Amino acid sequence: MTNSINELAESGKTLKEPELFDEIRRLKKEKNAVLLAHFYQEPAIQEISDFVGDSLALSQQAASTQADLIVFAGVHFMAETAKIINPTKKVVIPDLNAGCSLADSCPPEAFRKFIESRPDHVVISYINCSAEIKTMTDIVCTSSNAVKIIESVPKDQPIIFAPDKNLGSYLIKKTGRDMVLWDGACLVHEAFAIDKILTLHAQHPDAKFIAHPESTPEVLKVASYIGSTSGMINHVITSPFSKFIVATEAGILHQMKKDVPHKTLIPAPIKEDNTCACSECGFMKMNNLEKLYLCLKNEAPEVDVSKEVRAKAIIPIQRMLELSK
Ligand code: 13P
Ligand code: SF4
Repeated sequence: MTNSINELAESGKTLKEPELFDEIRRLKKEKNAVLLAHFYQEPAIQEISDFVGDSLALSQQAASTQADLIVFAGVHFMAETAKIINPTKKVVIPDLNAGCSLADSCPPEAFRKFIESRPDHVVISYINCSAEIKTMTDIVCTSSNAVKIIESVPKDQPIIFAPDKNLGSYLIKKTGRDMVLWDGACLVHEAFAIDKILTLHAQHPDAKFIAHPESTPEVLKVASYIGSTSGMINHVITSPFSKFIVATEAGILHQMKKDVPHKTLIPAPIKEDNTCACSECGFMKMNNLEKLYLCLKNEAPEVDVSKEVRAKAIIPIQRMLELSK
């Protein structure tokens, strides 16, 4: 099997999914590897992975794994976080170019100046940022635990929240804290079209509109539920309603459809039409099953973080993990 797969890979032919699944399972065992995947990954990757979750659950899995090799099917900052938590383990990602528009919207040198001009502020950074930004951060958070993290900071303590201004302004409303926001955003969540959402909702008055907090304030204003990817999935499971318009990356629909096959799930429309008329993260979708197989097989490309960066970046991540127990 290995040889035939190798020959196929070298000849550039398309590899069949069942063969790839078999090989991935065999290699995983042989190498004591764990496959972690985000809900935005393509369905085949979610199906073959050992654990599929949101950013918080993935970092908790990375912190507790006994595996020697971590294959991270997500974007770079997620794999980087896993490496910071596990400096002695090898962390690989199917495509090293799988970045994040939100992380890119916060360049380290500009951010350094931003925080240096506010030395009395505590810095809370959303996990969707580079390791370099984490070295300038006091506590990391995700969309699952952000309220709890903010509320752990004394009320009279000024806070800088970075890099997502949309999540930040949602959290200001939710916690009543007057935070200074970095002007960053996720292109995927900023792509939702409020006018099209309202039209769609009018066509489906029995549907509930739910959104990820990286969406813009005008979109969040009309949402009946706002939460992380796992929060949104749990909501469609526990809600008595049976139709939902879903504003987040379309990959989430795979898990939702599995959990509530009897419910109707409609992806929220975006400003620019694409093939699926829904919001897809081009970075998340750089990973595919074949690349996943090759990265497990070759143990490359590897995600590494310098010792100096790791030593500082682990501190706000550990604080987050402690506060999330
Ligand atoms: P969560 O899965 O933590 O909600 O994050 C969404 C996201 O944008 C990941 O990049
Ligand atoms: Fe980054 Fe947005 Fe893609 Fe999440 S969906 S990885 S925040 S670009």
